[in-house]
Amino acid sequence: MEFITQKITMGKDLGVHGNLFGGNMLSWIDEAAGTMAVTICRTPNMVTLKLEEVIFRKAVKVGHLIKIYGKVVRMGTSSITLCMEARKYNPISDEENIVCDTFLTFVRIDESGEPVPIPSSVREKYKHLSEK
Ligand SMILES: CC(C)(COP(=O)(O)OP(=O)(O)OC[C@H]1O[C@@H](n2cnc3c(N)ncnc32)[C@H](O)[C@@H]1OP(=O)(O)O)[C@@H](O)C(=O)NCCC(=O)NCCS
Repeated sequence: MEFITQKITMGKDLGVHGNLFGGNMLSWIDEAAGTMAVTICRTPNMVTLKLEEVIFRKAVKVGHLIKIYGKVVRMGTSSITLCMEARKYNPISDEENIVCDTFLTFVRIDESGEPVPIPSSVREKYKHLSEK
């Protein structure tokens, strides 16, 4: 998987149980995946269409470092699907453990918000992931 970004969990990010609020994790993952989608598809005009099952596997506490990784798993005509993993990173041991993972689909849109094909050069590069 490709490293996309990292976050540090702050007090303002916590929910009522003292764990990272799930909505904040979703926002981090959506933003990371969005940056990956626009970079890979070579266009700023990508919107999130779909977020699949999300598993919050481990509690994230204040001070925890979270690294977010992504991988392209499907290339369509106007859509791309990414597998995303958020991993808790221990800077002392260099160990990483998955705390949350999911799949997101993004669609390239035109000025009217209608789907348009991702550039053919990009689709060609990922054509091995294009079967439906
Ligand atoms: C994304 C959006 C433009 C798609 O419009 P649409 O009319 O549903 O598009 P289409 O039915 O033509 O499908 C477009 C692509 O999405 C895929 N798609 C549509 N529904 C899907 C679903 N439920 N699961 C997976 N893929 C789906 C289609 O297969 C197609 O992909 P392809 O071109 O690679 O084959 C529209 O749903 C939208 O504007 N959604 C809001 C986006 C948004 O505001 N996101 C949050 C902020 S970024």
